[in-house]
Amino acid sequence: MPWWSPQSHADRRPLLLQRGAIKRAFRAHFEGQGFTEVECGALVTSPGNETHLHAFQTQAIGPDLEQRTLYLHTSPEFAAKKLLAAGEHKIFEFARVFRNRERGRLHAPEFTMLEWYRTQEPYTAVIDDCLSSSQVIPRRSVEVLGAQRLLHFGVTVSPLRDATRPGTAICLFSDLTTVMELEEQLRFKDALARLGELTAGIAHEFRNGLATIHGYGRLIDPQALPAQYRPYVEGIRQEAEALGKVVTNFLNFARPEQVALAPVDLGAIAQRAVDDLQHDLPAGTRVTVDGGFGPVLGDEVLLRQVFGNLVRNAAEACELSGRVPLVHIAGAVDRSARITRVNVDDNGPGVKEPDRERIFQPFFTTRSRGTGLGLAIVQKVVVMHNGRISVGSSPGGGASFQLAFPLAAG
Ligand SMILES: Nc1ncnc2c1ncn2[C@@H]1O[C@H](COP(=O)(O)OP(=O)(O)O)[C@@H](O)[C@H]1O
Ligand SMILES: [Mg+2]
Repeated sequence: MPWWSPQSHADRRPLLLQRGAIKRAFRAHFEGQGFTEVECGALVTSPGNETHLHAFQTQAIGPDLEQRTLYLHTSPEFAAKKLLAAGEHKIFEFARVFRNRERGRLHAPEFTMLEWYRTQEPYTAVIDDCLSSSQVIPRRSVEVLGAQRLLHFGVTVSPLRDATRPGTAICLFSDLTTVMELEEQLRFKDALARLGELTAGIAHEFRNGLATIHGYGRLIDPQALPAQYRPYVEGIRQEAEALGKVVTNFLNFARPEQVALAPVDLGAIAQRAVDDLQHDLPAGTRVTVDGGFGPVLGDEVLLRQVFGNLVRNAAEACELSGRVPLVHIAGAVDRSARITRVNVDDNGPGVKEPDRERIFQPFFTTRSRGTGLGLAIVQKVVVMHNGRISVGSSPGGGASFQLAFPLAAG
């Protein structure tokens, strides 16, 4: 038989018609539920890294004959999730996708995949899906707002085929929260490492340049200048000094830190940090340290910096709002979760909801003389210790920084 004949199409035509009917039914189904049909580009810049998926690679040639490697997508997932991140809630796509190194009855190198995404639904929506379709819904991920934090679950819902109890389903949940948090930490560590490599070099050059400006600035004797120029020299010196400090702080933040991990007593470190700060805190400030602190593996110098920054921030926030700072550092050992929790609470104005994610970003500050690096450094050190940090409100409405560190074995 030749490689193509009209007959081979006649054979398949019923399938083609069937396919069209299925697509129309799906489209009507999704559109009826308020989904938007999307069409993500098939040519992508990154093949995505999945062990069992291999993308077709191709060369794009620009009008300037410049060559660039592009890939045919193996799934619209990345692009679709970008749309979700940009604010779409319900989207679906019949995506033509391409997978290299696949050939078999169920594995074609090119096929159409129906993919749909839905966000901001209660997790009970998957139970409705299961009951209305009478199908098993495997491995959905759902988020549930727990008492203190967002919990992530994997859930598989199976309809119960029991005539005496129609409309019943079994849900199997697995708690993925720690896995998700670990992934987030790893991404953060990754991002830090890249940031460090990229920017430390530039910042270094910057500092050299600033040192030169500062040095020449010092060599100019203001007294030898006409009086009207003196403030300019002073301005150059001050600005160069201030910028130098920003760059040094940034380098401290971005530099890959060497941690010397040894068993340490977090309570004693917190107390020591408070003692070191004593003279820097506003008059009348009271800092108390109490509760239980299990043994953790840590770097004493870096951890002291963590508590120092948190207490300093608390005192500054209270002072700015006209209150005498009361800071409470409380430890609690959670043996079943094998962590030590430490809360640093204050009686200040607290951190507003929209700022809670951002305060940990480098350079985020609401203070006119702030650098915005304090909490970025705190978070970096905590993550280097495989710990976590988040911010909430203290019982009195102030800020409550919640830290958790893994307990040292033994
Ligand atoms: N205890 C706190 N209470 C209220 N706001 C806080 C507290 N700690 C930090 N913040 C907020 O987080 C921001 C970032 O803090 P940080 O990274 O230490 O930088 P900086 O102290 O230089 O502003 C602060 O400007 C402030 O808005
Ligand atoms: Mg600070």
